[in-house]
Amino acid sequence: MNILAIETSCDETAAAVSQDGRKILADVVYSQADMHALYGGVVPEIASRKHIEKISLVADEALRRAGIQRGQIDAVAATYAPGLIGALLVGANFAKACAQALGVPFIPVHHIRGHIAANYVAFPQLEPPFLALVASGGHTILADVADYTQIKLLGTTRDDAAGEAFDKIARTLGLPYPGGKAMDELAQKGDPACYPMPQAHLSGNPLDFSFSGLKTAAINQIHNAKQKGETICREDLAAAVCQAVAQAIVPRMMEAAKQTGRRILVAAGGVAANRVLRQQLQSRAEQQGMTLYLPPLSLCGDNGSMIACQAYYEYQAGHTAGLEQNCFATLSIEEE
Ligand code: KG4
Ligand code: ZN
Repeated sequence: MNILAIETSCDETAAAVSQDGRKILADVVYSQADMHALYGGVVPEIASRKHIEKISLVADEALRRAGIQRGQIDAVAATYAPGLIGALLVGANFAKACAQALGVPFIPVHHIRGHIAANYVAFPQLEPPFLALVASGGHTILADVADYTQIKLLGTTRDDAAGEAFDKIARTLGLPYPGGKAMDELAQKGDPACYPMPQAHLSGNPLDFSFSGLKTAAINQIHNAKQKGETICREDLAAAVCQAVAQAIVPRMMEAAKQTGRRILVAAGGVAANRVLRQQLQSRAEQQGMTLYLPPLSLCGDNGSMIACQAYYEYQAGHTAGLEQNCFATLSIEEE
C-alpha cells in the first residue's frame, strides 16, 4: 500500500511516500526556518503562505523520488492536529483534494502520533507496547503506547514545552531561531554547575512537566548579567539548561515506566535530538536493563515519513475521513 503523506503543522512543508507502513520510498522537506529566523520565531501567517507556495512542488518531488505515478497512490494522508491552524489547513486541504481527485481514502494523522512513528521507520523490530516520550517545540508528553493507535496520555506540560524553553532562552542569548540545536552545541563545551537552574515541583500528577520556571530563570540570569555589565558564559548557561531539561524529563520517564511496567522506552520529537537528554536517557535505561529507542536526528524533527508511516496504522484501524474532516490547533493524542 502506497501512501502519500503531507505534513504542514508548523514551519516545515513536508511530503513522503510510504509503502506498507515502514518502508519510505521518498521524503522531501522544505524548511522555512531561515525565513522565520528573521523574526526570532515562527510567524503563523508567513508559515501558511509558504506552505501554499511549496506544497504542490514538495508533493510532486516526493512522487518523483519515489518513482511512482499518481495512479499508484492508494491513500493520501495529512497531519490534521495539533499545530498552527492555518498551516495545518493548507496541508490537510491539499491532501483531501488529492484523495478526492484520485478516488482514494484520506487519512488524518495526529502530529504527535506521527513523531512516535518516526521510530517505526528507524527501527523495523520496534512494535507496541512501549512507553513514549515526545518532546518538541509545542509538546512535552509521556504516553503509554499499548498499540499503534491505542495511546494513553500519562503526563504533559502544564505550561511551556521543553523546545519552547530552549528556543526562548536561545533567543535571549542572541542565537538564531530555532535555538535548541545551537544550545545543544554550546552545551558540549560548558559546565552545567556554573548556573544553577530551578526544578519545578508540581502537585498532582507526578508525571506532568513545567518548563516556564526554567525559561524565566535562565532569561533573568541573562538580563541580570547584562544590567550589571557582566558577560554570560553562553556555553555554561546552555549546559545548565540542557541539564535541567534532562533532569526534568528522565526521572519522570523512569517513573512512568515503573507505573506502567513497560520495559521498552521510545523518545521522539525535535528535543529528542538533544545530546545531554539522549545520554542521560541512555544511561538510566541501561542501569535499569530497559531497551531504549532513540531515532536518528533526521527523524526527530518534523518530517513527512513519520506521518506516512503512522497513516498506515491509522488506515489499518479504519481511521479514514471524508472531505468534512476539520483541523484542530490542539487535540489530545488519545483522540481518534
Ligand atoms: O518536533 P519539532 O521539529 O517540531 C514541533 O513539533 O515542535 O521540534 C522543534 C523543537 C524546537 O524547539 C527546537 O529548538 C528543538 O525542537 N530542537 C532541539 C534540538 N534540535 C531541535 N532542542 C534541543 N536540542 C536539540 N539538539
Ligand atoms: Zn513536531
